[in-house]
Amino acid sequence: MKIAVLYGGTSGEREVSLSTGKGIIKALINKGHEVIEIDFSPERIEEILQLDVDLVFIGLHGRFGEDGKIQGLLDMIGLPYVGSGVLSSALAMDKAKSKQIFSLNGLYTAKSEVYDVSVEEEFASIEKEINDKFSLPFVIKPNQEGSTLGLTIVKEEKQVMEAIQMAAQSDSMILVEDYVKGREMTVPVIGLKGKEHALPVIEIIPKNDYYDFDSKYKPGGSEHIVPAKVEDSMTAQLQEDAVLAHQLLGCDVYSRVDFIINENNEPIILEVNTLPGMTPTSLFPDSAQAVGMSYDDLIQKFVELSGV
Ligand code: DAL
Ligand code: MG
Repeated sequence: MKIAVLYGGTSGEREVSLSTGKGIIKALINKGHEVIEIDFSPERIEEILQLDVDLVFIGLHGRFGEDGKIQGLLDMIGLPYVGSGVLSSALAMDKAKSKQIFSLNGLYTAKSEVYDVSVEEEFASIEKEINDKFSLPFVIKPNQEGSTLGLTIVKEEKQVMEAIQMAAQSDSMILVEDYVKGREMTVPVIGLKGKEHALPVIEIIPKNDYYDFDSKYKPGGSEHIVPAKVEDSMTAQLQEDAVLAHQLLGCDVYSRVDFIINENNEPIILEVNTLPGMTPTSLFPDSAQAVGMSYDDLIQKFVELSGV
């Protein structure tokens, strides 16, 4: 098959995407596909409009890649692509909107509020509102971002302004959330629409005090325990919740759903990643490996599930 791989891109997760893209390209070549590589930038849209391929594999993360915009462009020109469509990508990227959908459907989410931070003069009043509404510790992060970029775990009131400023660099909306202390879990979901299943649950033990950018992408930055050592009933619950979250947003082919099991043993959903990392240190391939599926087989499976 002739497949174009879009990767790199312009978001804060560019470096992660370069690594994801390289992995995908190598796997597709190993599986005998002809690959056209595109390090994506708006200047290359003209080229994308002219693409003569059977399928597009989107290896982008974050803005203009994971948020539905590229998917919309590809829909308009009638090019099939791997993974979720416009609406589900956009919803998953918007943490506040997706959390509303999750909690309306019985999934546990952390208490949160979104604030518009497009006007810097309003930061002081937003700081006050946040301090009135949330008890320490809490989390401030851009509403639409990935890989924990721009995220602060606020432990002291004096950190709030800096945390707002940092998150506001990535997005005009910030999300403030109760900090959930507990064990960090993630669950890959794979399958045709309506027939998805979850792969083994992974527990993440970061070397730093939380699963930050370095823990995610530095080799040895975190330990992945797969399958996670939790009660069978908790494994079943996490897998069921992950498939439900994927389906509630209308995701397609694959996603990875992040959770924290809190101190009351409740699985709190954090978010759905519609284009989860596929780097050498990434979680999805590790989970697939645990059921005997190699990285290359996993990428080939995504191609097959795309039905072209
Ligand atoms: N946003 C990164 C790529 C992930 O969730 O894996
Ligand atoms: Mg994410």
